[in-house]
Amino acid sequence: MIITRRRLLVTSAAGAAGFALAPAWAAPPLKEKATYKVGFAQTESNNPWRLAETASMQAEAKKLGYQLVYTDAAGSAAKQASDVNSMIAQGVDAIFLPPREDKPLVPVIKAAAKAGIPVFLIDRDVDHSMAKPGEDYVTFIGSNFVEEGQRVAAWLAKAVDGKAKIIELEGTTGSSPANDRKKGFDEAIKQWPGMTILASQSGDFARDKGRQVAETLLQAHPDATAIYAHNDEMALGAIAALEAAGKKPGKDVMVVSIDGEKDAVQAIIDGKLGCTCECNPRFGPKAFSTMKDYAAGKSIPPYIKNDDNFYDSTNAKEVLASAF
Ligand code: AHR
Repeated sequence: MIITRRRLLVTSAAGAAGFALAPAWAAPPLKEKATYKVGFAQTESNNPWRLAETASMQAEAKKLGYQLVYTDAAGSAAKQASDVNSMIAQGVDAIFLPPREDKPLVPVIKAAAKAGIPVFLIDRDVDHSMAKPGEDYVTFIGSNFVEEGQRVAAWLAKAVDGKAKIIELEGTTGSSPANDRKKGFDEAIKQWPGMTILASQSGDFARDKGRQVAETLLQAHPDATAIYAHNDEMALGAIAALEAAGKKPGKDVMVVSIDGEKDAVQAIIDGKLGCTCECNPRFGPKAFSTMKDYAAGKSIPPYIKNDDNFYDSTNAKEVLASAF
């Protein structure tokens, strides 16, 4: 059954004064039920962060007694879109989606809304000029990626006394964390005229790609003194590239990154990684409680922020055991 999206009449300022009414779309409602069939269209499963996110979603669904329709797009936005289409065809009650990139998933988000299925974006957001929270999807739950980039920039500036020649390993091109972590870091370092970015290239959030890109960029820029990686996997790849080039990570070249995975925390303890800003992957409890609040008719803000910790040599040993 196709449910037509509800059209709301929102009174604009002019409307209140009696001149006009501004129309707006609302995300489809969700009925309160004892149990739900919920889709979770994961983007890929190639790193500990993704595995921790999936485990958290699966554990919470199990705890609540909900049926979770889980798919893995294996790093393809096209496959993720077809996974969402299949969830729509199966008639799930709601969909949790971490869109791999910020544009290609917009048509299926709109298709779900048109079919009366509310979509909750978790971990990654979409381009707001193409789709809007509260209208095309309910909300975006996730970290503030701009802030993550700013926090790493501030730590690095302090560690290197405001002087660094930086190689930047970007995340997946067109993904919201790659866009925002770049923006946050690149703008923040402008405060320190002694900090410059020598080169910036995508390593697709993957360890081996990060290693390959770091290897190439280190050959082109042997004078680099710092590497900023948009995630820990690429930072660990860069550490391997530095060691293969006979350089000491943490001494000859300061490496900094984002995520807080166990191998990265261990690398801090080993003196090879300077810091990592946590990006919390444990979405299950927050994602499902937001869905239940939505079904109960509570008002849901357009953005629900995850708070992130920050790890360096001052606290790495304490958090190692609980890291993912
Ligand atoms: O969207 C969050 C990012 O995606 C994590 O930093 C990264 O490790 C993952 O692949």
